[in-house]
Amino acid sequence: MGENSAMQIETGVSLRPYNTFGLPALAHTLVRVGSEADVRAVVDHPQLGRAPKFILGGGSNIVLTRDVQALVLKVEIAGRRLVEERSDAFLVEVGAGERWHDIVAWTLEQGWPGLENLALIPGTVGAAPVQNIGAYGVELQERFESLTAVDLMTGRTVTLTREMCRFGYRDSVFKHELAGKSVITRVRLRLPRPWRPVIGYLDLERRRAESGIADPGPRQMFDWVCAIRQAKLPDPAQVGNAGSFFKNPVVSDEECRDIIGRDPEIVHYLLPDGSIKLAAGWMIDACGWKGKSVGRAGVYDKQALVLVNRGGAIGAEVVTLARAIQESVYGRFGIRLEPEPVVL
Ligand code: EPU
Repeated sequence: MGENSAMQIETGVSLRPYNTFGLPALAHTLVRVGSEADVRAVVDHPQLGRAPKFILGGGSNIVLTRDVQALVLKVEIAGRRLVEERSDAFLVEVGAGERWHDIVAWTLEQGWPGLENLALIPGTVGAAPVQNIGAYGVELQERFESLTAVDLMTGRTVTLTREMCRFGYRDSVFKHELAGKSVITRVRLRLPRPWRPVIGYLDLERRRAESGIADPGPRQMFDWVCAIRQAKLPDPAQVGNAGSFFKNPVVSDEECRDIIGRDPEIVHYLLPDGSIKLAAGWMIDACGWKGKSVGRAGVYDKQALVLVNRGGAIGAEVVTLARAIQESVYGRFGIRLEPEPVVL
């Protein structure tokens, strides 16, 4: 597509500023990708073309335990525009390197609301579909139209629809078959009209009750979500972290009958298919981990599901802490917690 690439190959690059946990590691080789042409230049490069790749967005969902030997592609593709104003939705296209929260704020300002429940989620737009980000009753897949990606084998540009992305709870095809195989370059969001608030989530209901605002608008929802997150979750600019460290385990009715029998107060949600999602944060909290540390890695004192860097931690300390938590939760509840970030 006409554009030229001025590819720069950097070596021995510190990844500490590029991961929100603030963990030390070097990228053996790193290339910044500012366009689809840049991705194709990598694919066509005699050496780099064949190298295994690691695609880095905002670094908000990784735990670095060692230097990265794979070629790091740091996605910095910018751009945002309204593609189409339909009677039932606004379609907006965004470059994969844009910061997710900036896009939430920008669409709101433009009068195209719909992303406010996903405010303040760290990371880039390109990373949002990889793990189907979600918060306060909304998942990316519900605001997703399609995306553009470049295949790292062929250099070809492909479009993936929602079905092709195979979204699940914090999951998509990019964590499986397509992991490391294609670079997401642009994402098209679908913001439904007319706008309706998504309030069901307990923390939001509480805000509504306290404020006496029965019928909040998009700006009000945005402000509530920001306030809830700021009260519960550490700001990565101040305290290194990667958001929720474990997924909330989904189990069958039989699997958790004993657990709920023994601990009736365990926080759990019934899912539409009859399975049950258990609150991992509650279980970790019940095991006494909140505020505890192992070395320089710790459990956040306001949300036990979030592990934090207490200053100068290395990836191995985070992994050791995570294992200790997994063991105690397994010992008490018989549930195996699965990490949400990618451990490298
Ligand atoms: N809880 C405790 N103690 C704790 C933490 C939680 O008792 O230390 C209880 C809470 O009181 C609540 C329940 O557990 O009743 C669930 O906690 P919360 O509402 O804070 O949400 P979560 O299940 O811990 C999930 C997502 C978050 C998302 C929020 C809001 C996952 C793994 N995490 O957290 O996503 O923001 O719901 O929708 O699904 C992320 O993925 O990085 C993330 C932050």
